[in-house]
Amino acid sequence: MKIFLDSADLADIRDAVRSGLVDGLTTNPSLLARARVVPEEFLAAVSELVPGPVSFPVRSVETDDIVREGRALAAAHERLVVKIPITPAGLRAIARLHGEGVRTHATLCCTASQALLAARSGADFVSPLVGRLEERGEPGLELVSQIVDIYDNYEYDTQIIAASIQKLQYVHEVARLGADGVTVPKPLFDALFRHPLTDSLQETFLAEWKRI
Ligand code: E4P
Repeated sequence: MKIFLDSADLADIRDAVRSGLVDGLTTNPSLLARARVVPEEFLAAVSELVPGPVSFPVRSVETDDIVREGRALAAAHERLVVKIPITPAGLRAIARLHGEGVRTHATLCCTASQALLAARSGADFVSPLVGRLEERGEPGLELVSQIVDIYDNYEYDTQIIAASIQKLQYVHEVARLGADGVTVPKPLFDALFRHPLTDSLQETFLAEWKRI
């Protein structure tokens, strides 16, 4: 399963990439605003840092504008994937960009039918909002399972990158369900490596080495 980092913080991205276990990057307007980045500078920096796809959101809303913005972003950055909200206008833009060979990431996916339409439109990636749905009492994990089945049934190539992942349990569950990947914030990325028992037993064994 692929592990993407969901971040706009260059120090965090640099640190996570050093692990050799980051397959790609996603970001969103909230993260970009919080990190106070200048988009062009940020993209230039992450293009150097991140070894895989960099999924960057469009600010446009109408189809023609999204297509123009997506084309320009993709032309300027080799690994860029244009991140587009699943709206009727967004889906039309995804289809047009797909026709031009520009990679797209359909975001804000809350239902299996939206995921079906994203695949039909030619999106390279789709991101179901697991945690935010679960918070609302809606079945975010079950949504991942539905999308996995639907994409299997019709052999769609669109990759499912589970998003809005706030706890380890969601990483474990979406991996069991067969998501192609997950995108996680930096604190959760760090938590993937850790367990208190691992740390304490490591300490014990290191102390024992000194007696040998
Ligand atoms: C996905 O595309 C978003 O960047 C992100 O995963 C949203 O998650 P949040 O619930 O942490 O904002």
